Amino acid sequence: MSLVAMKTLLRRADENNCAVGAFSVGNMEMVMGAVRAAEDLNTPIILQIAEKRLKNSPLSLMAPMMVSAAKHAKVDIAVHLDHGLTMECVKEALSYGFTSVMLDGSLLPFEQNIALTKGVVAAAAAYGATVEAELGVVGGNEGDTAEHKITCTDPAMAKTFCEETGIDALAVAIGNAHGNYPVSPELRFDVLEEIDKTVDIPLVLHGGTGISDEQFRRAISLGIRKINIATASFDHLAKNAKAYCDANATPDYFALSEQMVQGVYENVKRHINVFNN
Ligand code: 13P
Repeated sequence: MSLVAMKTLLRRADENNCAVGAFSVGNMEMVMGAVRAAEDLNTPIILQIAEKRLKNSPLSLMAPMMVSAAKHAKVDIAVHLDHGLTMECVKEALSYGFTSVMLDGSLLPFEQNIALTKGVVAAAAAYGATVEAELGVVGGNEGDTAEHKITCTDPAMAKTFCEETGIDALAVAIGNAHGNYPVSPELRFDVLEEIDKTVDIPLVLHGGTGISDEQFRRAISLGIRKINIATASFDHLAKNAKAYCDANATPDYFALSEQMVQGVYENVKRHINVFNN
């Protein structure tokens, strides 16, 4: 088992009518917790990090660790740049051995998003890496203060976008949002069904935290093959760390570290069990 291209995992997920979990990581404990869960369930996963998180977790430290964790894992793992903001970061991630990249042009006008994404496809081709892109606007935010208003992906535009860019996976906006939902989201499965009919590449669901198991299963039945989980893992790590520190007047770093790993492990395991369908 080893570091693999993301498209390999998405193709297998398609054959098995399931989705691959893409788990965001920000430190060593998160990497260890996610990989341990994947190994215990003998299920491939995607380890990913978003460009906005690099302020806390620099790529020069995270990338070698993520790639090494994938290479040494007992299951296949793809390593992905989530929500790239700049071509420089995409190129850097590719040079570190990431097997998949995303440059998020979803807030740009349609033609500009196409042009930008074509550049990413060309850069990734030199490495045999996978390219994910997003069309429509996913709500919430990925690490900044501005909340984005949801705009559902237009199925006809999605078809044109995929054909013109040559991407491998398309992230859709169907009422999903990043971060904790204030109320349980109403996902537009009617829109997803139309996209699935018009687009023949794997579909990606962002904003996985707070989506119900039933909604995940329905999304998988309509072509979702990659599901992103970030906030729930960060929250589980923080909750476990707090509980440990609250219960121990003189916390021990090594015990604390294991609690952080365990928090992420439990969250990742719970989601893999649903995504395996
Ligand atoms: P959540 O933080 O809502 O789980 O979203 C993760 C995500 O989509 C990362 O791109």
